[in-house]
Amino acid sequence: MLSTAWSRRTLKFYAGVSRRWLSNSPLGKVRRAPPDKILGLTEHFNRDTNPKKVNLTVGIYKDDHGHVTTFPSVAKAQRIVDSHEELNKNLSYLPINGNEVYSKRVLDFLYRESCPDNAELLDKDKISFVQTLSGTGAVAIASKFLSAFISKDVWLPNYSWANHQNIFSKNGFENIHLYSYYDLSSGQVMVEKWLQELEDAVGRTDNVKTPQAILLHACCHNPTGVDPTREEWHTIIDKIHELNMIPIIDMAYQGLESGNLIDDAYLLRMCLAKGGWSNGLYLCQSFAKDMGLYGEGVGSLSIVLPPAARVENKLALDSQLKPIIRSIYSSPPGYGCRVAKVVLSNEALKQQWFRDVQNMVQRLHGVRHKLYENLQWPDLVNFEKQHGMFYFTRFKPKQVNELKEKYSIYLTNDGRLSLSGVNSSNIDYLSTALGKVSEMK
Ligand code: LMR
Repeated sequence: MLSTAWSRRTLKFYAGVSRRWLSNSPLGKVRRAPPDKILGLTEHFNRDTNPKKVNLTVGIYKDDHGHVTTFPSVAKAQRIVDSHEELNKNLSYLPINGNEVYSKRVLDFLYRESCPDNAELLDKDKISFVQTLSGTGAVAIASKFLSAFISKDVWLPNYSWANHQNIFSKNGFENIHLYSYYDLSSGQVMVEKWLQELEDAVGRTDNVKTPQAILLHACCHNPTGVDPTREEWHTIIDKIHELNMIPIIDMAYQGLESGNLIDDAYLLRMCLAKGGWSNGLYLCQSFAKDMGLYGEGVGSLSIVLPPAARVENKLALDSQLKPIIRSIYSSPPGYGCRVAKVVLSNEALKQQWFRDVQNMVQRLHGVRHKLYENLQWPDLVNFEKQHGMFYFTRFKPKQVNELKEKYSIYLTNDGRLSLSGVNSSNIDYLSTALGKVSEMK
């Protein structure tokens, strides 16, 4: 047996080593990052033992039984993929920029079907395109490309998706500016203030030499659910064009505003109609929400070149996107894109997909109506203004906290409530709790 004096000396020695390491090594200085503002809450929710707990945090569509659904069109496409050996047997790497047929189908869907007036962009080969790891991957690749070659300044709406700032700051953007978007007291978009801020800040720079990027939510603004009207969009697009800004359109919720996938591409159509974006127009799109392919990472980034661009410019862009992708995940995953490709290639399945999206939106509207019957909050059913999967309660952090601590009802800290988590079994419990918490001062 070792002597007590010896063990004490040993312990002291190791304590000294640990102290020296902690103060000298950069690794020892790494501190905990805050939990993710959206997905981090699900970890908390999973640990909650209250049988009445309700998760209204993440934007995942669930049915009235609280199940994450696979759309009928997607389930059929999966069966086709599974039963056709030729669709499934090659599990080799995909090309760096993605599967060729998937790319063609997505390009056709986005630029021929959703934007028929601009189909010539495809005929004239003016779009540089890569398959991406969902919408996050698209924004990240766009950020890396833009920050390497064009701009390190981006404007984000205040509020925005909690991950946007993270993506831009981790991918080369040095200056992240916020533009006024949502007025908490009125629940309206502040277009005048927003454009004045751009005019004051960007209008005073040499915006030809140092252009600045701006992120726009294509529809169903996340987290507020409030989008500018079409008229307002015209004014906004004119201003950012005049300021030579670089539009980055994040289209994560196509179809969830109107129930019609094509109609909801209106911002893309309007920006393309304006045309002549001298540093390109960036569309970050995903099938996470509108095909329910969340975990499969299926999306795309397209860069629409201005009319003056030549073949060589397009080839240069294509070639530069590849080493960016290669440095992060080498090439995109295959399964989800095979499923999406089947849905987009088969006319009957595509029509089914359109109906699936419509059904999802109908259920979300139904949830809004039922909550309205219980709570009488008028903006729940203001379909002119309130769009998509989220309802922005405008609750203060202490109200969000009360919901969590007292009722085990989880919203994101900014007060965003995912309507898809509301169902027949929890709506009464939820309505009572929301009503009570809304009265808190
Ligand atoms: C959301 O906003 O809840 C979704 O986009 C999921 C996510 O990754 O944050």
